[in-house]
Amino acid sequence: MSDSKNIAAAEGKLGILMPGMGAVATTVIAGVEAIKAGLGKPIGSLTQMGTIRLGKRTESNSPLINEFVPLAQLDDLVFGGWDVFPDDAFEAATHAGVLEKGVLDGVEERLRSVKPMKAVFDRDYVRRLEGSHVKSGKDKWNMVLEVREDIQRFKAENNVDRLVMIWCGSTEIYLEPNEIHSDLERLEKAIKENHRSIAPSMIYAYAALKEGVPFLNGAPNLTVDVPAMVQLAKEQGLPIGGKDFKTGQTLMKTILAPGLKSRMLGVRGWFSTNILGNRDGEVLDDPYSFKTKEVSKLDVLEYILQPELYQELYGDIYHKVRINYYPPRGDEKEGWDNIDIFGWLGYPMQIKVDFLCRDSILAAPLVLDLVLFADLAHRAGMSGIQEWLSFYFKSPQAAPELYPEHDIFIQLMKLKNTLRFMMGEELITHLGQEYYD
Ligand SMILES: NC(=O)c1ccc[n+]([C@@H]2O[C@H](COP(=O)([O-])OP(=O)(O)OC[C@H]3O[C@@H](n4cnc5c(N)ncnc54)[C@H](O)[C@@H]3O)[C@@H](O)[C@H]2O)c1
Repeated sequence: MSDSKNIAAAEGKLGILMPGMGAVATTVIAGVEAIKAGLGKPIGSLTQMGTIRLGKRTESNSPLINEFVPLAQLDDLVFGGWDVFPDDAFEAATHAGVLEKGVLDGVEERLRSVKPMKAVFDRDYVRRLEGSHVKSGKDKWNMVLEVREDIQRFKAENNVDRLVMIWCGSTEIYLEPNEIHSDLERLEKAIKENHRSIAPSMIYAYAALKEGVPFLNGAPNLTVDVPAMVQLAKEQGLPIGGKDFKTGQTLMKTILAPGLKSRMLGVRGWFSTNILGNRDGEVLDDPYSFKTKEVSKLDVLEYILQPELYQELYGDIYHKVRINYYPPRGDEKEGWDNIDIFGWLGYPMQIKVDFLCRDSILAAPLVLDLVLFADLAHRAGMSGIQEWLSFYFKSPQAAPELYPEHDIFIQLMKLKNTLRFMMGEELITHLGQEYYD
C-alpha cells in the first residue's frame, strides 16, 4: 500500500471488459455514453457524485471524491466484452428493455460499435441459456489462451493503457470450493485436465489475472473467491473483488438490519420475496443457479445481527429468501420484505418493505464505481482482496480468518478511510472529543 505520491496518474484510456453483455452491462455502457452526452446524471455513483470530508468538521473541506483521488474520467473509458449472443450493445440494450428508446437512440452509434467477442460458455454451468456465439476451443486450457488473445487484441485495437475486467454474466450453478482451488499449481493442473470444478467465469478470471488485469465479480459465482485466485492476484500485483452486486433487496437489508441492531430490537423472522422478469430472473429460475444466489443472499443477516453475541435478540430468527420469475415485470423487480421484530418486554411489531425497484438501474453505478476504484487500487500498488470495496457486494470476499463486513455504514466508512489513507490524509474516527476539550 502506498501514499498519494506513489499512485501512478490515470493517464490514457481505461478499457472495461465485461464477460456478459446483458441488462446490467448495456445499462452501464449506455448510461456512461448518455451522461457524457448530457442526457442524464450519474445518480447512485459514489465516484461521480460523492464527497469526502477531510480534516475537522470545523474546516468545511469536503471535496468530490473524483477530485480527491486520481480516477479515470468517463471520457477515457472504452467498453468491450463477451456474450453468448452476438447482439451489439444497442441491440442487447433494446432487448433488455431497461432504458427508454429516446435515451438509446441518443447514443446508438456508440452502442453499435460495442460488439461482443465469442463467449467461453458451457450449458452445464448456466442451464437456462442457449447461445450460438461461443468459442470452439477444444478444452479449458485452450479457452484460457483464446481469452488472453482477446484481451491482447482489444488492448491493441483500442489503444488502451490499462484494463479492468468485471463479470456481468449470468449466475452459474452452485460450486463449493475444493482442493483444486486451494493453490495455483492445483488450479492450473485442473484447468489443463478440464476439471468440472473450473467454471467458465474462472477461465475469464484466470486469463485476466495472467494478462495483468484486475478482476471483479458482479455475480455470486465462486470465480476468484478461492485461495488459488487470491494467490495469483497477489503474485501479479492485481486487485480483485466480489461477489454479487449489492442492489435491491439486499441493499435494503443491509440498511435496515444494522439500524434495528443498533437499537437492540429483536428480529424473529425476515421473509424476503422477489418477482422479476428479465433474463437474470429466467436464469435464476433454475434451482442450480438459484442456489448460488440464495447462499449469497442468506449470509447477510447472519453476519450483521451476530446471533452468537445476541442470542436473545437474534438467536431464533427465521430467514427465507425467494425469487420468482415473472415475465411481465421485466427488469422492474418488486421485492417484498416482511420483518417480524420485537421490542421492550418482547412485544411484537412488524415492518413491511415493498421495494419497486429497477435492477439494472441500481447495478449500473456500482459497476462504474467498482472499475474506477479497482483501477485506482491497481495504480496504487494494492493487490489481492480489496475489502474496502465490500460496500458494493452482497457477499464480500474477505481474508479466510475474517468474517465479511456487511453493515453498509461500516463499509462506507472503511471505503472513505481507505481513500484518505491512500492519499496520506488523516483518517476520520468520528470520536470528535477535540471539539469539546
Ligand atoms: N441487476 C442487479 O441488480 C444485480 C444484482 C446482483 C447481481 N447481479 C448479477 O449480475 C449478472 C448480470 O445481470 P443481468 O441482469 O445483466 O443479467 P442478463 O441475463 O441480462 O445478462 C447476463 C448476460 O451474460 C451472458 N452470459 C452468460 N454466461 C456467459 C459466459 N460464460 N460468457 C459470456 N457471457 C455470458 C448472457 O448471455 C447474458 O447476456 C447476473 O449474474 C446477476 O445475477 C445483478
